[in-house]
Amino acid sequence: MMKQREHFGNRFAVIAAMAGSAVGLGNIWRFPYVLGEYGGAAFILVYIAASLLVALPIFFAESVIGRRSRLDTFGAMRKLAPGTAWKWVGLLTILSPLLILSYYSVVGGWSVEFLFKALSFDFTGASTEEEVSGFFGRFISSTWQPLITHTLFMALVAGVVLGGVKKGIERFSKVAMPLLFVLIVFIVIYSLTLPGSMAGVTYLLKPDFSHLTSQAYAAALGQAFFSLSLGVGTVLTYASYVKKEENLVASGVGTAICDLLFALIAAFAVMPAVFAAGIAPESGPGLVFQTFPYIFNKMGEGMPIVSALVSATFFLTILAAALTSAISMLEVGVAFLVDERGMKRRTATLVLAFSTWLVGVLCSLSFGSLSGIKLLGLSFFDFLDTLCSDWLLPLGGLAFTIFVGWWMSKADVRDELTNGGTVNVKLFRGVYFLMRYLAPVGIILVFLSNILL
Ligand code: TRP
Repeated sequence: MMKQREHFGNRFAVIAAMAGSAVGLGNIWRFPYVLGEYGGAAFILVYIAASLLVALPIFFAESVIGRRSRLDTFGAMRKLAPGTAWKWVGLLTILSPLLILSYYSVVGGWSVEFLFKALSFDFTGASTEEEVSGFFGRFISSTWQPLITHTLFMALVAGVVLGGVKKGIERFSKVAMPLLFVLIVFIVIYSLTLPGSMAGVTYLLKPDFSHLTSQAYAAALGQAFFSLSLGVGTVLTYASYVKKEENLVASGVGTAICDLLFALIAAFAVMPAVFAAGIAPESGPGLVFQTFPYIFNKMGEGMPIVSALVSATFFLTILAAALTSAISMLEVGVAFLVDERGMKRRTATLVLAFSTWLVGVLCSLSFGSLSGIKLLGLSFFDFLDTLCSDWLLPLGGLAFTIFVGWWMSKADVRDELTNGGTVNVKLFRGVYFLMRYLAPVGIILVFLSNILL
């Protein structure tokens, strides 16, 4: 007999889990440094447009496939498009979140390390400035310490996924998400009180369009995909746990708004501090991890206890956000092995967590002992990030919108998005138009600019 599929409890639980997946290192770690690389306020505007006009419709498309089929991504494609090659899209979108998880877990590990350091009063004014700002570089290029924290992080992720949808994912997200919000608002307030921080606020509010290169558009879309967890079947898998009565459009909009807000708030937590610390906004992936120890170190000169508390709070925030996202990446593969291969949840989780961890080891070492090995001129870590964000996610997203906009019958799509004609009836035309035309065309244009420019 088929076991009954688990469900999220109610609307709050759906949004908490989906926003839990969306809000993560992508918002706190990736958004500020990408924003810094592409020039500040003007990039934010492009990012908001990309999120609402291209990314959100793809979110709807994935939700439709997930809830319609109530299966993992591979099974969903096989059920909705039997006997076609679509199932290979499903398979690809099971592999890509695992690839992302491999390097995501390394960065998650960095936040574990920084949390430990904060708790042991390491950022409290005892060290010289050079030591603090150089710490990040020395840490990630060392061999063992980052591997240990990567392992710890992956173990935490596997622990939550082992608990299942309701007891693991839902319960954890419902507590972690509101907490996260409170913590980050607190950090923003602190950050704005730092001397010199107003330059950071101006940087975020005053657009300078001369900084917008054509790559900035691609980067904005890539970031929007990453941040909403799109294009790899995460949303699809979570939507398969959403009840029939739930309003998919409302959950999608709720999630996208949480995600956007959180990215903007994170930018206001990070950029003012970057300017106060005199660090260049275009410093790249180390931005958050270099800026904050510096700030906490300064704070610690007068008030070591406060500094330890604030810094621990900050890295705990990052860790909690990273965890709720990482579990969603692992869940995609676990759902596949459970649904399609009949594997036990436990075995599936352990097998996938271990294989992903192994790939992560290479990513971690690529900052140190393996830094000489380059793929297309990039370190293993950067190569995976570029491959996923610039190519696999948009490609997956394109496939999902084409599937829903052009392959599935309009009546089925309408049925799913309007719950059989009971909600969103007026909105449907607009949403369908975005899914069918604007989203795919937007992605194709960005691809073309990536290839040609
Ligand atoms: N969106 C998450 C973040 O912002 C990361 C994430 C979770 C993700 N699941 C994903 C990214 C699937 C891409 C694909 O940190």
